[in-house]
Amino acid sequence: MSNACHTENPAPADTSAPATHENRVCVIGCGRVGMASAYALIQSSFIRELVLVGRSPERTEGEVMDLEHAVAVPMKPPVKVIHGDYAEAARSSVVVVTAGEATSGPGMSRLDLLSKNIGIVRDIAVKLKAEGFAGVLVMASNPVDILAQVAQEACGLPAGQVIGTGTLIDTARLRGLLAEELGVEPRGGRLRHRGARGLGDRGVERRPGRRRQARTLPRRAGAPGLRRLLDRVRRAGPEVVRRKGHTAYAIGLCVQRICEAVLRNERAVLAVSALLQGEYGIEGVYLGTPCVAGKNGVERVIELDLDAGEREGMQASANLLRGMRQDILEKDGA
Ligand SMILES: NC(=O)c1ccc[n+]([C@@H]2O[C@H](COP(=O)([O-])OP(=O)(O)OC[C@H]3O[C@@H](n4cnc5c(N)ncnc54)[C@H](O)[C@@H]3O)[C@@H](O)[C@H]2O)c1
Repeated sequence: MSNACHTENPAPADTSAPATHENRVCVIGCGRVGMASAYALIQSSFIRELVLVGRSPERTEGEVMDLEHAVAVPMKPPVKVIHGDYAEAARSSVVVVTAGEATSGPGMSRLDLLSKNIGIVRDIAVKLKAEGFAGVLVMASNPVDILAQVAQEACGLPAGQVIGTGTLIDTARLRGLLAEELGVEPRGGRLRHRGARGLGDRGVERRPGRRRQARTLPRRAGAPGLRRLLDRVRRAGPEVVRRKGHTAYAIGLCVQRICEAVLRNERAVLAVSALLQGEYGIEGVYLGTPCVAGKNGVERVIELDLDAGEREGMQASANLLRGMRQDILEKDGA
C-alpha cells in the first residue's frame, strides 16, 4: 500500500533548479585568493570540474589556460577547467566566492570598502539565485562573517547552505604553532581532541581584543604560553601581509578542505562561520564556531561549553558585526 501511494502521487519535478554537475566546484573572483583556491581544488581527487567566473574575461581565460596546463601534468587527477558564466556557476555543487576589493582606494574609508564589498557579494548572490543555484555557497571574501550573511539573505538559500570560511585559517595557524611547541605533527588527533580551534569574528581587522579562543590547551603551555600563542595567531595574517602584501595559500587550502567535506558528505567538524540561532545566547548573526559540515553545508552548529568570559567574547563579536551591518544599512539608506 505504501508503495502504491508513492507511485500514484509522485513528487512534482523541481524544474526551477538546474541539473547539478556532481563534483563541480565554481570559484567566483579570480584574484590571489580565488586562484590559490582554484590551484588547491584541482589537486583534489574529489573534484571533476572547476568553473572560474572572473570580472575580466581575458584574465580569466588566461587563468583557465594555465590551470588546464597544470591538470595535464601526468599523475594529476583529471579535472575539466571551464571559463564560465553564472548559468555554469549555478550548476555547481559548491560555489566559492572570493570576489571583492581587498584594499581601500584613495579617500575611501573602511566603511566605504565594506559597503562596496557588500554590493559585489549581493550582486553575485542575486545572479546565482536567478540561475536557480541550489548547492552550497562558501564565502571567503572579507569580512567573511558579514559577507556570508549578506549572501545568504540575497540568495535565499537555507542558512546551512551558506558557509563562511570563518576561523578555519586561524585554527590551522594555532595548530601549527601548538604542534611546534609540543613537537607533534599539526594534523594529529591529540590537538583536535584538545579543542585547538578558533572562535568568533574574522576579518574585522582593526578591532582590539578580537577573540580567538583556544580551549583546553595542554597544561604544559600554561596561561602565559597560551596568551603568547594566541597573540602569534592574531598577528600571523598581518605579518604575512606586511611582507608580501596579501595571504593566499593557507586560505586556498581551507577552501579546498570545506569543499571536500561537502562533496564527500564527510560530516567533518570544522571551525567555519555559520548562522547562530540561539547558540551562546546569540541570535541571527554569522560567527565562527565548530560546525558539522556535510553535503548540505553546515548540518549542525556545535555550541561549546564556554566560561563566562569566553561567552562574553562571542557576544561582543556578534554585537560588533551587528553594529557594522547597521552602519552600512544606514549609510546606504537601505
Ligand atoms: N577568509 C579568509 O580567511 C581570507 C584570507 C585572505 C583573504 N581574504 C579575502 O579574500 C578576498 C580576496 O582577496 P584577494 O587577495 O584575492 O584580492 P584580489 O584583489 O587579488 O582579488 C579579488 C578579485 O575579485 C574580483 N572581483 C571583484 N568584483 C567581482 C565581481 N563582481 N565578479 C567577479 N569577480 C570580481 C577582482 O577582479 C579581483 O580579481 C578579500 O576580501 C580578502 O580580504 C579572506
